[in-house]
Amino acid sequence: MTVRVGVIGTGSIGSDHVRRLSSEVDGSTVTALYDIDIERASSIATSVGAVAFDGPIDVIKSSLVDAVLIATPGETHAELTRACIEIGKPVFCEKPLAPTTEECLDILKAEMAFGSRLVQVGFMRRYDRAYQSMKKAIDDNDIGDVLLLHCLHRNVSSPSTYTSSMPFTDSVIHEIDTSRWLVGEELVAATVVGVKKSSYAPEHLLDPQLVLLECASGIVIDVEVFVNCQYGYDVRCEVVGELGVVSLDPPQSTATMMTRDHAGGVPPDWKVRFGDAYLVELQDWIDGLGQGVVAGPSSWDGYCATAVSQCCVRSLGSGHRETVDLIDRPAFYI
Ligand code: NAI
Repeated sequence: MTVRVGVIGTGSIGSDHVRRLSSEVDGSTVTALYDIDIERASSIATSVGAVAFDGPIDVIKSSLVDAVLIATPGETHAELTRACIEIGKPVFCEKPLAPTTEECLDILKAEMAFGSRLVQVGFMRRYDRAYQSMKKAIDDNDIGDVLLLHCLHRNVSSPSTYTSSMPFTDSVIHEIDTSRWLVGEELVAATVVGVKKSSYAPEHLLDPQLVLLECASGIVIDVEVFVNCQYGYDVRCEVVGELGVVSLDPPQSTATMMTRDHAGGVPPDWKVRFGDAYLVELQDWIDGLGQGVVAGPSSWDGYCATAVSQCCVRSLGSGHRETVDLIDRPAFYI
């Protein structure tokens, strides 16, 4: 069976997903596209033999489409995801599921009312080989009980539209999801710590920032987020347990990580670092749909990640430790 996918949003990651779904993933084809940039959508549609539609709802409702992939800006995700649930079509929604917990909860309610899972959220790090090895080491108890996680998330430079909240809502949201997934616990509090500002960061942007995330069991996760680090896209994670540590392979040499041109071993961006993970993620989604199953990161995962990222934003504003307010996990999502 070939899954016919309609893609809404053909910008940076949307156009990559179109390429993957039409020529790299087994069992899928892209049949319909929409982007508010009509010319862009038309040209991509022509290149993959898809139809460019006049609106997102037309894509969702089209008889040419079995499943929908949403890769528009976050503020559009809730409405589009709910429209897919309303007509019972599976939907892969790029992160964030939605920018607010209220919108996420509406999606949860709609999906539960439908009666089976339809939504997968684009938390691709769960499909990255290195993260999967870490997860296995933790689950196999190789390092004993987990005590701490040390995480870094660095980008070469940020877009001009990036505000001081966005390191949490756009970037650290990945560390939030991977931490929950790695340790199998919800995060209950966040404290953002001010750091000396880089002179390479735009004037309006606090960069770098540090956040401490806490689990109820006492596990603490520190995340440095630095979106104008100049030298490369550098994502690191070390999990400290009672009997040892497990970490993503560090780059070969720290001495050379000074500029983008001399950052030996550090990828230039997320497209390179997580290219394989995006492919495995979409293959897993399509394989599941072929068997009538949606099993990847769920609406619940999307809701929790948004709740924790919003907690970080509150702590940034208050300057204090803030607690995460989550509803009880519905049995539907266990
Ligand atoms: P982008 O700005 O490159 O592309 C967004 C596209 O959506 C543009 O082509 C724009 O014309 C279109 N668009 C805007 N409003 C629209 C609307 N109302 N209806 C239809 N099309 C609309 O952004 P990018 O980087 O591709 O990000 C898109 C989404 O993917 C965001 O939610 C972002 O957080 C997520 N993302 C996830 C990544 C991951 O690692 N999982 C990596 C990069 C982005």
